[in-house]
Amino acid sequence: MQRQRGTAGTEVLRMLGVALSTAVLLALAGCGAEGTDPQNCTVSAEERARMLGILQLSAMDSGTPNPSVLLALNLAGDSSKARQELLERIKETAAKQAKDMSSGQVALYTLALRSSCCDPRDVAAHGQSVDLLSILQEKTDQELTHLEQNGTPKSSLFSVGLDAQALCVTGAGDYESAATILAKQLQRSQDKLSVDEQAMMALALVCAYNRTEHKDVQDLLNRTLTMVSNGFLDKQAEGNGIIGNIYSTGLAMQLLLAAGKFYAPRHCQPWWAEPTWILPAWTAALKHPQPLECSWTLS
Ligand SMILES: *[C@@H]1O[C@H](CO)[C@@H](O)[C@H](O)[C@H]1NC(C)=O
Ligand SMILES: *[C@@H]1O[C@H](CO)[C@@H](O)[C@H](O)[C@H]1NC(C)=O
Ligand SMILES: *[C@@H]1O[C@H](CO)[C@@H](O)[C@H](O)[C@H]1NC(C)=O
Repeated sequence: MQRQRGTAGTEVLRMLGVALSTAVLLALAGCGAEGTDPQNCTVSAEERARMLGILQLSAMDSGTPNPSVLLALNLAGDSSKARQELLERIKETAAKQAKDMSSGQVALYTLALRSSCCDPRDVAAHGQSVDLLSILQEKTDQELTHLEQNGTPKSSLFSVGLDAQALCVTGAGDYESAATILAKQLQRSQDKLSVDEQAMMALALVCAYNRTEHKDVQDLLNRTLTMVSNGFLDKQAEGNGIIGNIYSTGLAMQLLLAAGKFYAPRHCQPWWAEPTWILPAWTAALKHPQPLECSWTLS
């Protein structure tokens, strides 16, 4: 991972690591990547319990609560006391500090609360309440303005990808402008962007493609996703399975799984089954996630 992009971006990368590698693992546990041979992804109940235990321990970590851990626990269908307490602390921290957070952090909090069936538009704790979505929209607009005026966002392109993803997933904000600007940025300077940046930006485009009704936006997103996915597949072939480096490969795989309909399958070695791939053990451990049913919906 490239880590020289300012503290906000680094923080987000660190925080996102758990949730995204877990998501990748979950996806791999389903063995669903198009164009790949299904592998035996069975993992023992003990291994699964061990992994959950590690996640629950990090949920109880004192200090600033980590929304990525909550996301991971939700993905695993966990309903432990540790998860519940983490959720409460995340609400409190959001209510108190969201206005001072970076855009990427607000995006992560939004995703974590959304995945816990809490309405991010009304996060209340200790008599304070905030509308995380309007804060996210405001911070995303600032990022985009900065990007258009200076050629770089206020924090990092990785964070803006996260912002666009959170706006799109909640379906409540102007995700289309953000996605369009990110797509153009990818088209213009793909070679200069790290694998992490490309993957995070492109993940937001997959969501936007699925949601938008504008044909011209769809075409732009389609072209961009095809370009990024094929770029990753080329890197994978050159790097013997590794896309960028060992850390960025998880995020890149996440994109390849999500963007399956934008590239032609290549007959390649299912390299994640190799022993170097300890992480997949992780994922598979959390097989059979039970997503929560939400009783409310975002308009
Ligand atoms: C898959 O792996 C599990 C555990 O290692 C084993 O019990 C099972 O027989 C395997 N299934 C197949 C189809 O290879
Ligand atoms: C696309 O959006 C629909 C709802 O509009 C949703 O049901 C579906 O799961 C989405 N697909 C993906 C791949 O996100
Ligand atoms: C993307 O565009 C190509 C070329 O126009 C088209 O053949 C393909 O079906 C599109 N892919 C998706 C997922 O819409």
